[in-house]
Amino acid sequence: MVSRRPFVGGNWKMNTDLASAVELADEIAASCGQLVEHCDIAVYPPFPYLQAVGRTLGHHGVQLGAQDLYPQPDGPYTGEVSTDMLLDLNVQVVLAGHSERRHVIGEDDELINAKVRRALEAGLNVVMCIGETHEQRQAGQTNQVNINQLRSGLREVGIDQLRQVTIAYEPVWAIGTGKVAGPGDAEAVHRLIRRNIADLYDEDAARSIRIQYGGSVNADNAADLFARGEIDGGLVGGASLDAEQFMAIVRAAVEAKEVNHEARSR
Ligand code: PGA
Repeated sequence: MVSRRPFVGGNWKMNTDLASAVELADEIAASCGQLVEHCDIAVYPPFPYLQAVGRTLGHHGVQLGAQDLYPQPDGPYTGEVSTDMLLDLNVQVVLAGHSERRHVIGEDDELINAKVRRALEAGLNVVMCIGETHEQRQAGQTNQVNINQLRSGLREVGIDQLRQVTIAYEPVWAIGTGKVAGPGDAEAVHRLIRRNIADLYDEDAARSIRIQYGGSVNADNAADLFARGEIDGGLVGGASLDAEQFMAIVRAAVEAKEVNHEARSR
């Protein structure tokens, strides 16, 4: 049985200002303590604050993440940010395919796949986000939408590179709405994702890959979600803007893994 290390990320989106971003990072760094030994913790501040947040996080073990990247090394791409620029600022992990990039900005599967591949080639870890909209769920298309996004996002990603990849299952209707997916419903999609990874790669890869849940995760519902063995942590938006709440979610992930681990070894 592979024991997957939980992973909790805080996606700050287009929130904070310089002072509050630094303050939030400072509070998280100050309170992460031993938790970083049991859980990967990342924060994704807005691009302009990456450097200041990175300095504030220092060597406490919280990873610096970026919300996006552009899949070209340099050149005439006004407004975009390359992987070299992110690496210059010691970014370790980057989001690709977040639903707001897909549905608000209009990114398609091909661009998302190019971003995933570019980030992996640059040596960054990638959290690739997938998820169905409310209409797609109502129409019974949940499984197909997630399979399609998973497979197109991972096109031409080799099994060796898969170690750098985390999948975030984020049902679009649950993001920022306060409507969290039922733990059972979320777990069913996580299982489906893992089966598809087995099919695309192999059983080992499927057992090892981490799948986060995202969509209205907060300090009250995190424990129930993370109690499901298939759910390896969360990608947290709104609740990650409050250090106390974010750290409570991290603690829930660590505690759930300990409980699941004990249950398995009994
Ligand atoms: P939310 O956002 O926690 O505010 O729903 C999650 C996300 O978009 O990653």
